[in-house]
Amino acid sequence: MFQFTILEIILYLVLILVLLILKPLFQMLIMKIKYGKKMHLMYFPLLGRIIEFSRGIKKHNDLLHFEKMIPQQHPEIEIVVSNTFLGLTHVFFKTEHIKFILQNQDLYKKTSKVLFGEKMLYKGLAFQDGEDWRLARNVLSKSFEFEQLRARIPLIKRLCEEKFSKVPEGEPIDIINISGNIVGEVITQSFFSQSFKDLNGKTFLSELVDVMVGIISQYREAPIRSMSRTFIFGTKDYPNWTISKVEQKLLARLQKIKDILSDSIKERQSMENKPADFLTAYINTIQQNPKLTEEHAIQQYIMLIFAGIDTTSNLFGACCYALSIHPEWQRKLREEIQKQYGAYERLNSDNINVSNQITNFINECMRMYTPVPYFIEREVKQDHKVGDYFLKKNSEVSLCLFPNNYDPKNFTDPFTFNPDRWNQQGIDPFVFLPFSIGKRNCIGQHMALMEIKCLLVYLLMNFEVNLVGEKQVWTFKFVYTIQNEKFIQLKRIGK
Ligand code: HEM
Ligand SMILES: *[C@@H]1O[C@H](CO)[C@@H](O)[C@H](O)[C@H]1NC(C)=O
Ligand SMILES: *[C@@H]1O[C@H](CO)[C@@H](O)[C@H](O)[C@H]1NC(C)=O
Ligand SMILES: *[C@@H]1O[C@H](CO)[C@@H](O)[C@H](O)[C@H]1NC(C)=O
Ligand SMILES: *[C@@H]1O[C@H](CO)[C@@H](O)[C@H](O)[C@H]1NC(C)=O
Repeated sequence: MFQFTILEIILYLVLILVLLILKPLFQMLIMKIKYGKKMHLMYFPLLGRIIEFSRGIKKHNDLLHFEKMIPQQHPEIEIVVSNTFLGLTHVFFKTEHIKFILQNQDLYKKTSKVLFGEKMLYKGLAFQDGEDWRLARNVLSKSFEFEQLRARIPLIKRLCEEKFSKVPEGEPIDIINISGNIVGEVITQSFFSQSFKDLNGKTFLSELVDVMVGIISQYREAPIRSMSRTFIFGTKDYPNWTISKVEQKLLARLQKIKDILSDSIKERQSMENKPADFLTAYINTIQQNPKLTEEHAIQQYIMLIFAGIDTTSNLFGACCYALSIHPEWQRKLREEIQKQYGAYERLNSDNINVSNQITNFINECMRMYTPVPYFIEREVKQDHKVGDYFLKKNSEVSLCLFPNNYDPKNFTDPFTFNPDRWNQQGIDPFVFLPFSIGKRNCIGQHMALMEIKCLLVYLLMNFEVNLVGEKQVWTFKFVYTIQNEKFIQLKRIGK
């Protein structure tokens, strides 16, 4: 693939040295002089945060230990700056900075660093910008309101029963994968009112997820190739010869998936009586608005799978983790569920919200283990300041939720799991924002909470939840999660 002469290799190495190693170091030192102790630098050639990450895992079994300890160990820090191979990332977490950034979203656009993002995700809601975003958000937001979604509850309940009935007892299970299958099916049914046939010997959804993960992981799997390519050619339209065999195979699988989705959309367009689902909402708008295309609808679906499955299933995984390490809460919650619902059949859209104890429990799990502690990186569109901090056009910004979630000023004894703390009212929505807030907040939050509640009720009515192994390591796999997938085992409880 890459065929370089010696001279090219030398030039290339010099370029790496200067641009990737010395330039960020130099920029960061200047900032350090300007901002002093308020700024924490994480410099490491190419990948700034890597040292802190591995230290957190080694010493505390937690990749994000540093972030959680900021309020207690480094209260002077207001901003963390680290380098990636494409430049500096400014991580903000102070309430007033979060507020400014989320209230002035037009100053930023979402990162364009996702490998082959234009083929799968950039026409999806989380990455769209300006008028495109407004149009798409309008089409979808109605379908995601509680009043529309409540019709999905019977489906969610049925899927919980179906997927958990086959779970083996007393052996380690991948609870995140099981709940992910449920969530993925709910999204697919809500979008297409149908599911799709198996592909490559896998369910359609696992094939789609595998392909997406495979493509995005190329930065990690083939870092030198992917980084130097992005560095040289930018983030789009790489020349053909830089695309590896592995990538070509993944892209071919992606195309196959998109072809199947495309057929389904075409079929729908010619239908007389269209079912009331997301796709029909989309098609109705496509007809009025030629700027929306079939490709938009396809990528919107891929986006919902991307943004909806791992987030929700990992929050459920975190709930199971909390249930198993706090048996007293498992008992309390089971009693509460018995009291409120008695039988699983009685859970419905009118009573799904009735229990404050369940809501408090979920909030506490999100506070301590939110699957999205770092927001999607944003590119700065124009020079401006956030508080005292100057941001240059094209630099990168991210938000981190853990410093606030573990700040004893807002959550006394923050490392203690205590759902009852949520009985006190009035937490500032810019202090606790697991679904973000403002116009780019999570469109799927009602769906996610609905699913988590159905899952919890079903699980606790039928199973005792236990941890497998002593030590669990918290790490990142697109979302914040437990490293060992099979950390839970279930034991059926007698009626
Ligand atoms: C526990 C589960 C979930 C959590 C913690 C979560 C969290 C978030 C957060 C923090 C954002 C803002 C990201 C940013 O600004 O960088 C977001 C946006 C988004 N989420 Fe979720 N999410 C969850 C479930 C879902 C589900 C189930 C769906 C869809 C089925 C979904 C779809 C989206 C979309 C499309 C956006 C982008 C919205 C926009 O930019 O207009 N999420 N989510
Ligand atoms: C997750 O579940 C799906 C569907 O049952 C299965 O095909 C897939 O292999 C599972 N993935 C993992 C990593 O266990
Ligand atoms: C790039 O490579 C693919 C597969 O090898 C081929 O189908 C495609 O036509 C090529 N495109 C160009 C512009 O050469
Ligand atoms: C949260 O902490 C801030 C200070 O960081 C304080 O001003 C605010 O009152 C606290 N809010 C709650 C609800 O404790
Ligand atoms: C349940 O909670 C959601 C928030 O997740 C809210 O939008 C909805 O109106 C509530 N539904 C009922 C029936 O109270």
